[in-house]
Amino acid sequence: MIDVHIVILAAGKGTRMQSALPKVLHRVAGRPMIDYVLDTADTLAPRTTTVVVGHKAEVLRAALRARPGLGFVVQEPQQGTAHALLTTESALAGQTGTLVLLSGDVPLLSAHTLATLVEQHRLAAAAATVVTAFVDNPHGYGRIVRLETGISHIVEDGDATPAQRQIREINSGIYAFDLNGLFESVRSIAAENAQSEYYLPDLVGIYRKRGLTVETVTVASPHEIQGVNSRLELATMTRAVRQHKNAELMAAGVTLDDPATTYVDGDVVVGTDTVLHPGVSLERGTVVGSGCEIHSGVRIVSSRIGDHTTVLDHCVITDSVVDAHAVIGPFAHLRNQASVGARAKVGNFVELKKTRLGDGSKSMHLAYLGDAVIGSNVNIGAGVITCNYDGTHKRTTTIEDGAFIGSDTQLIAPITVGEGAYVGTGTTVRENVPAGSLAVSAGKQRNIEGWVEGKKKRT
Ligand code: UD1
Ligand code: CA
Repeated sequence: MIDVHIVILAAGKGTRMQSALPKVLHRVAGRPMIDYVLDTADTLAPRTTTVVVGHKAEVLRAALRARPGLGFVVQEPQQGTAHALLTTESALAGQTGTLVLLSGDVPLLSAHTLATLVEQHRLAAAAATVVTAFVDNPHGYGRIVRLETGISHIVEDGDATPAQRQIREINSGIYAFDLNGLFESVRSIAAENAQSEYYLPDLVGIYRKRGLTVETVTVASPHEIQGVNSRLELATMTRAVRQHKNAELMAAGVTLDDPATTYVDGDVVVGTDTVLHPGVSLERGTVVGSGCEIHSGVRIVSSRIGDHTTVLDHCVITDSVVDAHAVIGPFAHLRNQASVGARAKVGNFVELKKTRLGDGSKSMHLAYLGDAVIGSNVNIGAGVITCNYDGTHKRTTTIEDGAFIGSDTQLIAPITVGEGAYVGTGTTVRENVPAGSLAVSAGKQRNIEGWVEGKKKRT
């Protein structure tokens, strides 16, 4: 077995992004670019993975903390891609095999291309293998200069002659190298170019002059090796990734009224015969069942929606669960482990936080239900509020099956309303309501006749 070692370059400033955030943490279709790269790299089962960090190193390191087995080296200052690779020398001391070099800002590289790269590199027993592509607009990329005998060298855009600028075969910035003698050779790269930086692509020319084997692997679809250097490129790539996901959904039996305004993250699952209306966002691991209808302007994040559920316009649902055949919205807000039972209804301007609303229960208008456990077939009237916070602690409201909570009621937690109990309209519930009883707290109504006429005379 020949070992694979991965090095990911992510130290650059990303000047063209005009951002305080490290470039590789910018999100393509909802995920940081570098996550794509790390996931693809993992498919090679590498012996080591090293990320070269520099600009905003601490921010980047913190963002990747959850990923096990990553090594970091700091490149400071950043003097080019060859200099970046050199910083990994001591981390890789004594290692042998194939070094696969990836760019943190090239997120769409496929696992298939990566596997082909390693395979071709080994078959040819090459010193280096470069992933290339033919593109319509090669502007900004390093160009692959070829002779009849194969690749001769790579010239950067800024250093290319007008004739070289016409070359449409570009360097992806992704390579396989034989580790044997690699760092020694990289050290011989000079910074004699337009940017006065140490360019890793120069290694190709150096190897070829020494008669070493340098191979190329050309990808069929150039979008795979597109780099992100600006916000415009970020947006273009995001659109392409989203379009791809939407096409996948449609092929799997989901209706998208307007794919151009439907935003579905890569890790989202949607069941067959579900309809997504314009302006829907489904994010971060959300699962939507089949036969659902998700109306315009709905955003669902890290949540699970059961089969045949309707979410009406402009709802926000995060970290929550909705069971089958429920109806949510319009304008409802479910958050922080809200859980809505089967056939339950949550209507206009209702907020559920860390609350279970049982099967068949209804809260149709203007309510705040927080830290509540609500049974099945409960009716929550308009304007009901769980007063769940006493200034120090969050307290639980329990409403048992079949209870009826009249409109404009405040439930001062901790409190329990028993099974089948009624709470009269406008009640401030301070004490538990036993099952089957009626709670009222408002005083008897008095009508003072002629009061209005009297007021007019007095003023
Ligand atoms: C690079 C290649 C170019 C190729 C293109 C493909 C060089 C000199 N040029 O150009 O041939 O066509 O990628 O996308 O390599 N980085 C560091 N430290 C540094 C400089 C850069 O870690 O000192 C990292 C960046 O964070 C980035 C990657 O290396 O992730 C590529 O650097 P970038 O400046 O984007 O190179 P390009 O100009 O795109
Ligand atoms: Ca780049």
